[in-house]
Amino acid sequence: MYNPCKQAYFLKHMQVELHPYCRQNKLRDFCREKGIQLCAYSPLGARGTAWANNAVMDSPLLKQIALDRGKTVAQVCLRWVYEQGDCIIVKSFNESRLQENIGIFDWELTDADRDSISTIKESRGCLDTFVHESGPYKTIDEFWDGEITGDK
Ligand SMILES: NC(=O)c1ccc[n+]([C@@H]2O[C@H](COP(=O)([O-])OP(=O)(O)OC[C@H]3O[C@@H](n4cnc5c(N)ncnc54)[C@H](OP(=O)(O)O)[C@@H]3O)[C@@H](O)[C@H]2O)c1
Repeated sequence: MYNPCKQAYFLKHMQVELHPYCRQNKLRDFCREKGIQLCAYSPLGARGTAWANNAVMDSPLLKQIALDRGKTVAQVCLRWVYEQGDCIIVKSFNESRLQENIGIFDWELTDADRDSISTIKESRGCLDTFVHESGPYKTIDEFWDGEITGDK
């Protein structure tokens, strides 16, 4: 598994929306090549915000994985981000959920879990904010470089 702690030379980082429904594979490859540490904001999909992606916490697949591992959907998301070698910024104002969110270091997802997550059709919270027929990005596909498509 990729271990960010061994990559002490990382001096730069980039924060982006990153979770099982927004995997940022192209950006991660680019950042690795340039020595930039990728950092996941809204790793649970940011429920309750204007940029929320509720698909994450409502995901039947993630719920099944959580059931199989005896964990919560939030822990599955956070563990998945951690296993990608990315930093995590998760937010909670609730003490028990804060505890839950750090309970991701003494277990692993299985290869089958990781494989099934990699097949999820991706989606992002703010799909069309930066897309306009008169702007530089005319379609959602163009803006997200083909990783996210318009048929959400
Ligand atoms: N750099 C940037 O441009 C940027 C952009 C967006 C966000 N961020 C930062 O990234 C951090 C996290 O992002 P975010 O707050 O947008 O989204 P998030 O961490 O994905 O989601 C936060 C929401 O999930 C809930 N939650 C937390 N742990 C949970 C758990 N174990 N089970 C169920 N629900 C849980 C929280 O509610 P409770 O509080 O009730 O637990 C809150 O409603 C924030 O500090 C934010 O400021 C940075």
